[in-house]
Amino acid sequence: LSSQALIGKKALVTAGPTYEPIDPVRFIGNYSSGRQGYAIAECLRDAGAEVTLISGPVALDAPTNIKVVSVTTAQEMLDACAAHLPVDIAVMTAAVSDWRVKDFSNVKIKKGENAPPPTFEMVTNPDILAWISQDAPIRPQLVVGFAAETNDLLDNAQVKRKRKNCDWIVVNDVNPNTKIMGGVENEVTILSSSGKQHLKRASKKDIGRLLTQKIIQFFNV
Ligand code: C5P
Repeated sequence: LSSQALIGKKALVTAGPTYEPIDPVRFIGNYSSGRQGYAIAECLRDAGAEVTLISGPVALDAPTNIKVVSVTTAQEMLDACAAHLPVDIAVMTAAVSDWRVKDFSNVKIKKGENAPPPTFEMVTNPDILAWISQDAPIRPQLVVGFAAETNDLLDNAQVKRKRKNCDWIVVNDVNPNTKIMGGVENEVTILSSSGKQHLKRASKKDIGRLLTQKIIQFFNV
């Protein structure tokens, strides 16, 4: 990657899961290591972009020369994204929790002997990718979403791309037998309105490099 190609461009990357509290000691969340998002943020940085990485809770070291903003919930992730616009490029890799508990408890919920398990009313979280693509005050020129699918990968992802109005969607197969989720490798297809490009199985870092090359081409045509 040329270290000059994206000089003067600002990039926003979301990565990792969000955790939605149930009470002070419990949460619901998604499986996500954050590896693919961190790798993309590093590749964009290496190509000269000014990168802000909005990260949910992960066990990765903060990369150098990237502004890392740590958040926990989907609402915090949305607020952090809004606070860092405008940008030229947004790459939304985070595994955002679709729902949160409507009224989480400020005190630990007790187990109570022979008491029935608690039930929770859920509410839908904001869709950060759809917001940045459709409702942000200044839409990034290029918005890239991710789609983790277990079946009918390309069809589901193309529907998702159109519904959320992002420019590209990067599809990956998260069936447990692929060992992609949480692993060091990925295999993806990038869908746009004009076609698809398959990237064969490679390290998440190499997938980040190839995606960054495609982003450089996008800005240089
Ligand atoms: O709808 P689904 O969760 O499968 O869409 C995945 C894409 O949407 C990812 O890019 C993810 O980061 C983004 N997303 C989001 N906010 C949500 C849900 C998903 O930004 N609440």
